[in-house]
Amino acid sequence: MPAYAVLGAQWGDEGKGKIVDFLSEDIQIVGRFSGGNNAGHTVVNDDGEFSLHLIPSGIFWPNTFGVVGAGVVVDPDILISEIDYLINKGINITNKILISERAHIVMPYHIILDELMEKSKGNNAIGTTGKGIGPAYADKAYRLGIRMGDILNLDLFKSKLNEVLPHVNRIISNGYDSKPILIDEVLEKWFTWNDRLSNLIGNVEKKVNNSLLNQENVLLEGAQGALLDLDLGTYPYVTSSNPTIGGAFTGLGINPKWLSGIAGIFKAYTTRVGAGPLPSELDMESAKEIRNIANEFGTTTGRPRRIGWFDAVAARYTYQMNGYDSAILTRLDILDELKSLKICKSYKYGSQILEDFPLDLAVLEKCEPIYEEIEGWCTSTYGVTEYSDLPDNAKLYVMKIEEFIGCNIDIISTGPHRKNTIKRKPLII
Ligand code: GDP
Ligand code: IMO
Ligand code: MG
Repeated sequence: MPAYAVLGAQWGDEGKGKIVDFLSEDIQIVGRFSGGNNAGHTVVNDDGEFSLHLIPSGIFWPNTFGVVGAGVVVDPDILISEIDYLINKGINITNKILISERAHIVMPYHIILDELMEKSKGNNAIGTTGKGIGPAYADKAYRLGIRMGDILNLDLFKSKLNEVLPHVNRIISNGYDSKPILIDEVLEKWFTWNDRLSNLIGNVEKKVNNSLLNQENVLLEGAQGALLDLDLGTYPYVTSSNPTIGGAFTGLGINPKWLSGIAGIFKAYTTRVGAGPLPSELDMESAKEIRNIANEFGTTTGRPRRIGWFDAVAARYTYQMNGYDSAILTRLDILDELKSLKICKSYKYGSQILEDFPLDLAVLEKCEPIYEEIEGWCTSTYGVTEYSDLPDNAKLYVMKIEEFIGCNIDIISTGPHRKNTIKRKPLII
């Protein structure tokens, strides 16, 4: 191997949790490298059903260790509740996780700022998850961030808080006319964080690099999706980190030479939570049909996800930036009952036909999808594990997507459970 990246290739919620769990059996370290608890990764396996926000999805295998890298922003309260949640569900995580001391903390005031900023934007709101992610990354860029390592040292934590709070309070009270944050309210949290998390904080970068030097397998678990990338996505309707491949190297502190492959996960159709363009979006009525079959509601926020047909123009764009060695297609079974399916193969912009994803948001917003229509298969593919057992029209659908993206689909997911998976080619050698 040794390092293999598994990335969201659309607008998030592609089924990364399911696939990372499926792929992690022979993985020694699985690591999150970007985002925070805006992510909601669902895992269904013989241990049960789990919703994970910070802890990597490969953690269920007995010999797989989970790390959270420097590129992640960590809300310690959420991390503690996620640890308790897993313990209560009988999952052994003792000596199985390490959080980078360099990872920045999502502080309580980041959550307040996220909400205040979204409210003040009115109709232009991004539709964030409200978890304080943007403000936490902003403070990191301002060089006012407080890091997980500071949970180990009260004096350091206090002095950093004394530096950042006046700045935060000026924004909160002068900018938003809201109640300032009291230092003692925040400081109080330190004691619980220190008590519960001290022994889980350490040098993740060294651990991962040592593992790679020993020729162990490391799986890099993407969060969000390529089109939500801060630099390469549909800005400003994006998240505040880099879920694309570059983010994996900085976020875990590894060098690109270790990388043996990249897989891009695509849902068999498209979804998006929050605002921003979605050229192949279905109207409310048609979306309802898929949403009800698919239960497309956000894992983190419970919001109904917007739904569209598979968008091959957007898919080609994320292939271009991430260079997938394999594509992985999830939720094929959701389309089982549809009589006909559409794949968006290009866009119409005024009188022009666009094959490439436009980078100008004003153009993208006006693009109309040009579809290839395919007859549905109208039989169940739920739980199918052999490609040869798929109905012909389902195979045709898979082949059309491969042709439009220009990348082989090596894994197809036919249900939420780890075992509902077709493996056409081994990804990890
Ligand atoms: P993630 O954020 O990319 O990990 O995706 P989410 O967990 O937010 O959303 C994916 C949803 O699809 C979850 O409810 C999964 O359990 C479910 N899922 C994943 N793969 C499949 C599949 O092939 N078929 C079906 N029916 N559900 C799937
Ligand atoms: P997973 O890892 C889907 C979206 C939000 C919003 C935008 C910015 O489960 O695929 P943020 O809170 O990050 O500032 O919100 O990004 N978003 C996601 N959408 N899945 C996710 O994660 C997301 N994480 C953020 O809905 O549009
Ligand atoms: Mg999700």
